[in-house]
Amino acid sequence: MSGSKKLAAPGLLKVCIVGSGNWGSAVSKLIGANIINAPEFDKTVKMYVFEEILDATFGENSGKKLTAVINTKHENVKYLKGHRLPDNIVAEPDLVVAAQDADYLIFVLPHQFIGKALDNLTGKIKPSAVGMSLVKGLYNPEKTNIRLLSTVITDKLKIPMGVLMGANVANEVADGLFCETTIAFKELKQGQIFKKLMQTPDFRITVIKDVTNAELCGALKNIVAFAAGVSDGVFGEKTNTKAAIIRLGLMEMMKFAEQFFPGGTPETFLQSCGIGDLVTSCFGGRNRKVGEAFAASPAKTLDDLSKEMLGGQQLQGARTAEEVNYFLSHKGKEKDFPLFTAVHQICKKEMAPNKLIDAIRQHPEHHHFRVSVHGFNDERSAAGKPVFIYKNLLQRLITTIVTCSHLATTLAKHLLGWEEGILYFGANEPLGQGIVSLHPDMVDAINTYIHSDKVKLNGPPLISIGQAINGTLN
Ligand SMILES: NC(=O)c1ccc[n+]([C@@H]2O[C@H](COP(=O)([O-])OP(=O)(O)OC[C@H]3O[C@@H](n4cnc5c(N)ncnc54)[C@H](O)[C@@H]3O)[C@@H](O)[C@H]2O)c1
Repeated sequence: MSGSKKLAAPGLLKVCIVGSGNWGSAVSKLIGANIINAPEFDKTVKMYVFEEILDATFGENSGKKLTAVINTKHENVKYLKGHRLPDNIVAEPDLVVAAQDADYLIFVLPHQFIGKALDNLTGKIKPSAVGMSLVKGLYNPEKTNIRLLSTVITDKLKIPMGVLMGANVANEVADGLFCETTIAFKELKQGQIFKKLMQTPDFRITVIKDVTNAELCGALKNIVAFAAGVSDGVFGEKTNTKAAIIRLGLMEMMKFAEQFFPGGTPETFLQSCGIGDLVTSCFGGRNRKVGEAFAASPAKTLDDLSKEMLGGQQLQGARTAEEVNYFLSHKGKEKDFPLFTAVHQICKKEMAPNKLIDAIRQHPEHHHFRVSVHGFNDERSAAGKPVFIYKNLLQRLITTIVTCSHLATTLAKHLLGWEEGILYFGANEPLGQGIVSLHPDMVDAINTYIHSDKVKLNGPPLISIGQAINGTLN
């Protein structure tokens, strides 16, 4: 399309949207409108469109190329029907042509198409480009390891990447309904630039640094949303059961992040990308919808239902459940994530949808308390390694500080022996944290130990572990 060449101005920053499904098209409305008022940016935004010939169901547009319809009628009639896209959004069917001179690349393809897109783009984009991923999913082609898509993009294209994840059903964003979202970028400054391109009075953006947890939230919530849909299909829209599924799903999401991608901050789960997106996906969204239909019509396959219900849109939850399951089974950890595992089995028809609750009735979250153990060397302390033990989620609730290296070792041994948590003991400053599930007997044992004369406390404990945990339970 020559329009882009005509409008391009040298020296101005260029933006390319890589993807033009439901979400890519909705986002193009925001960017196309905002960029008009951003003097440092070229006003033309190229949008890579996977070329399709529209079939007979598209009436007057049938037989036409989707790119041609977008560029002449300014509507993505297939993926975002009924919304006018700004005139400065230019559909481009050649990925390299769309992306090669962009300074800012916004990836918004369904995650199964990312690998091939990256192969095409490698070595063909500006080395100084910066990217942001709106893609919800994980990367697991080897079926043993699992990686964040933003990391995969950085490794392949050698560009810094952030993510945008949030409670954002595309049609509602396109309708201009108020919502929030989260941009995560290690360099906050980069995040602010994308915020400028996308924020509106009704699309409120918080910029944080924790890319890892933000991206994991976006990917894993689709599994939980499918489970919420199964619950709707089996029980009707009963809220207690669904609330339990959402909470247990959230705990599995957090545990997955803590165990396999340590270093993120738990507070990220309180952002729009965390609890916000989880709630919206479990009540609206395509994963819930198809999960419900799948549970209610056992004769149909997921493929049948996706074709019937999604009009070409992709179902992410089942695919992510499969990828996560490959990884968990490789690690021997399926039992620790019963909800994720059950969703995969249901999607594969290895478990009847009405058995979902049986699979989570004895959930580990009902048996183990969760505390976070943070260990580090403290050279100020003659005794060696203090151990900080505190409740997870709001880390500031430090429950006890014990300066005793022996206790640190004992805890590590016991905790690692009992459960799969990870402890870090490093030099001078906290290196990270591990979350462990702590059996109540262990809590008693630790408290007895802390209060025994074997332990020299550096001042009295602020509050004992038992009290803190009872506080959590009451
Ligand atoms: N739709 C939403 O409400 C929403 C909201 C937030 C995030 N997301 C995420 O955004 C990403 C994109 O989802 P979406 O809803 O925009 O897509 P979609 O499911 O609406 O559309 C599918 C897209 O895939 C393209 N496609 C089909 N075959 C292809 C191929 N072989 N190669 C390349 N592209 C091909 C189609 O042209 C279309 O653009 C997903 O990761 C999704 O989870 C979606």
